[in-house]
Amino acid sequence: MVSTFLVLSAVIRFVIACQKIPLYYGTLDPALALPGGLITSVISSCQCCAFCNNNELCKSFSFRGSTGECTLYSKVGSYPTFLRQDWGAEDTEFYIMPRSSTTEEFCRQDEDCVNGEPCLGRVCTTNRTITCLSIKELNPTINTHTFWGAVDGTEIRLSCLMDVQGGGWTMLVDAIFNFFWQPADVLSLNSIGQGGVHTMGQHYSALW
Ligand SMILES: *[C@@H]1O[C@H](CO)[C@@H](O)[C@H](O)[C@H]1NC(C)=O
Repeated sequence: MVSTFLVLSAVIRFVIACQKIPLYYGTLDPALALPGGLITSVISSCQCCAFCNNNELCKSFSFRGSTGECTLYSKVGSYPTFLRQDWGAEDTEFYIMPRSSTTEEFCRQDEDCVNGEPCLGRVCTTNRTITCLSIKELNPTINTHTFWGAVDGTEIRLSCLMDVQGGGWTMLVDAIFNFFWQPADVLSLNSIGQGGVHTMGQHYSALW
């Protein structure tokens, strides 16, 4: 009875501690890895989280399920330091610890941001609007992908073209060959309505 309770409370602690930024897969700049922070043969993200939780310098971690590599970092990720994996190569999960994010670092909710800014578009910022151009300016080498952003304080998913004509383009409508827009399509293909994942070559609309 007592041991069941202890196991349960440990599991609950790790679940609270491990917070993923949904759909952002990848690692951080290796310079941010803690000394001895690369641990191999780790069986799950939960075990990796436990290592991070037990190291007071650990603010975030990445876990690669295919190789069992767990890397602990001294900071929470941000656009300039995050090395995001491309479409189709998304096997490295990235997690942040609660109440550890400083300005422009990733967050899940306002309480994560230690400098008192709100968490908007999954970053700690007082900015009310975050577009693909904002993200491109924060990391000029970032790849075309979908991202979290915001328009006038409302969080939305962005479909960003980062590698054509200088990059930083926020896609509003994507119609592949022979598609005739009807008002209902605009609604049904809205980035939020679709679950927010837009791959290029798919009909898409961003409506807010
Ligand atoms: C917030 O706005 C400032 C000023 O335009 C900009 O330098 C910064 O990159 C923006 N941050 C985000 C997260 O959009």
